[in-house]
Amino acid sequence: MNVTGILLSIILAAIAAFIYRAHRNLTYWQRRGIPCDSPHWIHGNLHGLSKTISFAEAFIKVYRRYSGSGPFCGFYLLQKPAVLVLTPELAKQVLIKNFSNFSERGLYVNEKDEPLTGHLFLLQSQKWRVMRNKLTPTFTSGQMKFMFPTVVSVAEQFVETLNSDIEKSNVVEIKELLARFTTDVIGSCAFGIECNSLKNPDAIFRQMGRRIFTDTRHSLLVETMINTAPNMARKFHMRTFPDAITDFFLNIVREAVDYREKKHVQRNDFLNILMELNKGKLKFDDKGEEKGLTLEEMAAQVFVFFIAGFETSSTTLAFLLYELALNPDIQQRLRAEIIEAVENHGGKVTYECVNSISYMKQVVSETLRKYPVLPHLRRKAMADYVVPGHPNYVIEKGKTVVISVMAIHHDPEIYPEPEKFDPERFAPKEMQSRDSITWLPFGEGPRNCIGLRFAQMQIRIALAYLLRNFEFGICAKTDIPLVFDRKQVLTTTKSGIHLKVQAI
Ligand code: HEM
Ligand SMILES: *[C@@H]1O[C@H](CO)[C@@H](O)[C@H](O)[C@H]1NC(C)=O
Ligand SMILES: *[C@@H]1O[C@H](CO)[C@@H](O)[C@H](O)[C@H]1NC(C)=O
Repeated sequence: MNVTGILLSIILAAIAAFIYRAHRNLTYWQRRGIPCDSPHWIHGNLHGLSKTISFAEAFIKVYRRYSGSGPFCGFYLLQKPAVLVLTPELAKQVLIKNFSNFSERGLYVNEKDEPLTGHLFLLQSQKWRVMRNKLTPTFTSGQMKFMFPTVVSVAEQFVETLNSDIEKSNVVEIKELLARFTTDVIGSCAFGIECNSLKNPDAIFRQMGRRIFTDTRHSLLVETMINTAPNMARKFHMRTFPDAITDFFLNIVREAVDYREKKHVQRNDFLNILMELNKGKLKFDDKGEEKGLTLEEMAAQVFVFFIAGFETSSTTLAFLLYELALNPDIQQRLRAEIIEAVENHGGKVTYECVNSISYMKQVVSETLRKYPVLPHLRRKAMADYVVPGHPNYVIEKGKTVVISVMAIHHDPEIYPEPEKFDPERFAPKEMQSRDSITWLPFGEGPRNCIGLRFAQMQIRIALAYLLRNFEFGICAKTDIPLVFDRKQVLTTTKSGIHLKVQAI
């Protein structure tokens, strides 16, 4: 055989191996007799992702089709076979009961090439465990109480800004405005910086916040590829954020740490806690070696608090106000209860006051039910796992497990008339009759949202201020129904949410 012949056979063999592998992957569930949709040869069950279908919709479709067939069904994340959970029992096993077998998300993390990815949401194994333990005290109710006045002062600014906005026009795009509010809140509470984005819509922090979601380095499809094959992506030294964002956060944290060390500034905020951790020397790696946090490691945690902190809460608030605009009776009742609670607390919006308004909790819970910001949870099987009571249902080591929160929250068996906004679903009696695993906006188990209390606090404070000062209604510019953005993983609308706002 000549050289061309040899080359040709190598190429043919490579193609054959590739096809064989793809075929093996894409028949994985069929061979095991687990129900699944037949996959597209490149996109798996994500065909049309970001164009005709969103992540959430892709999971919902399959969930509805196979619900009732067993504890899970198969799902092809591109060419990678994954597990889609169908029952509350399995969700509970994965998230809580057998957590140690599903303790990671299995998303792309690459601290060497991209230090900002070394944050709590992405960290793995021992590193995650140590960091989680160290960061948990940041979010106790004691800490929340301490940060309460800071959030209140931002809420007061918020009312001022909105008042001056409606002087110009009473049609307000609330999504962006709320993002400016939560940016300022997280800026001052997490790292003691006045972001000033309420006063200045183009403040650098708001710009960066916007860019994190709009200026992604890759399309949703490429990002999905990176996250379905993290080991491969690591070999190629893939990076996921634009350099400007990485540099911005590294610089902010470097400057703040320098400043505080030089001037011996102590503040009771998140950065302070990180700096204290650093002095205490974290026991950090698997070998049990003692070392502190590097600047990059600190910056990564600050970064995750920033991204997880502002967008989630602001979109939740935006959906909530939208529903209040559509349901004036609910708005009226909530306003009345807020006014009464404030009166009962000597006319002041206090920590105890905002936590005492049970109808507010119901409205927030129902908003998070109908619009879970993170539409699905993700875990990776750390070892082969046989679903208890279902010997044929085996989750192999390394497989991704997806729990579609959106599908569960819109399952008519669990929440009748799921498209209806009805806070009565979360009246105490109703809640008792439902398994708590069926409400998952913050996830569950040891790896749930660490910022849950903080998020609830800032949402409650915002509502206490907004509803006493303004009335929200729909107008010609309001999208009914809302149009969701299929290009985003997070639940968010394609454009802004416009409401008619009137001062009371
Ligand atoms: C309405 C607001 C919020 C929602 C709906 C939300 C939702 C979630 C969800 C669903 C998860 C994944 C849980 C799981 O996999 O079981 C998560 C994780 C996380 N959230 Fe939130 N979150 C919110 C606000 C916040 C805030 C304000 C912060 C921080 C200040 C925060 C920080 C985090 C972090 C660090 C993680 C990763 C935890 C870990 O892996 O150990 N979140 N969040
Ligand atoms: C899962 O948890 C249950 C109860 O906590 C336990 O009995 C069982 O052995 C666990 N299964 C695995 C595979 O670890
Ligand atoms: C799976 O869980 C069991 C019991 O909780 C534990 O003994 C085992 O080490 C876990 N496997 C992994 C890989 O974490």
